[in-house]
Amino acid sequence: MTTETIAVIGGTGNIGYGLALRWAEKGHRVLIGSRAADRAEGAANDLRARLAEGRGAGEIAGLVNPEAAAEADLVAVTVPFAAQRPTLESIREGCQGKIVIDVTVPLVPPRVSRVQLPPEDSAALVTQDLLGEGARVVSAFQNVSAVHLAELGHPVDCDVLICGDDPQAREVVVRLAAEAGLRGVQAGRLANSVAAEALTSVLIWLNQRHKVTGTGIRITGLSEE
Ligand SMILES: NC(=O)c1ccc[n+]([C@@H]2O[C@H](COP(=O)([O-])OP(=O)(O)OC[C@H]3O[C@@H](n4cnc5c(N)ncnc54)[C@H](OP(=O)(O)O)[C@@H]3O)[C@@H](O)[C@H]2O)c1
Repeated sequence: MTTETIAVIGGTGNIGYGLALRWAEKGHRVLIGSRAADRAEGAANDLRARLAEGRGAGEIAGLVNPEAAAEADLVAVTVPFAAQRPTLESIREGCQGKIVIDVTVPLVPPRVSRVQLPPEDSAALVTQDLLGEGARVVSAFQNVSAVHLAELGHPVDCDVLICGDDPQAREVVVRLAAEAGLRGVQAGRLANSVAAEALTSVLIWLNQRHKVTGTGIRITGLSEE
């Protein structure tokens, strides 16, 4: 298996923590990024404790966001939409030449069960614009509930739509989705991310209506690759 150093920006939060947990379990070196070094270290300590008995878990460290991005081979961005711009500005330099996995959904509280897209069409396009052409932005994981990821070994009944303009970068994210226990389905160019981002509000609406925590999506009819 290829092992990489993956920075999870916002890895102190819900979905970032879950992805960090699953990637570290598979042997990747994971850097938890936060605005505050003590919060990053706290989350890293917590992850280390959870993985202590697992064999082959990768090294885990906590760093402030710009340092985490700069030290990583790949960067995952897992912060709320309202925090997108300042966060990306703080890591822009460290993302150049790297694959950046964007998990951001453009939710506008309090009406998160209603699709409210930004004027730029999608959060992923905003990310590409803020990071510049030097970053290979791939959007993914918008339809996966953090609740499922946080439980190691729990099978997640959800596909991951993977959108990006660089086919090789999309392939890498398909592999990382598989390592997190999910089937990644390539879904075309970064502009298509709008569909995955909008679906999240539909899933939140379904969660509320059915009083459940983690609805997901499945793409049917594909031949196995
Ligand atoms: N939760 C899910 O199930 C889920 C599923 C799919 C997609 N998403 C998307 O993934 C992203 C992260 O979701 P989440 O639920 O994991 O978020 P979260 O736990 O609320 O926040 C993640 C981290 O972002 C940082 N952050 C929060 N507010 C910030 C601010 N105002 N400025 C800068 N940084 C801030 C915090 O890290 P520090 O304070 O340590 O810096 C926080 O731990 C969102 O765009 C969300 O829509 C979430």
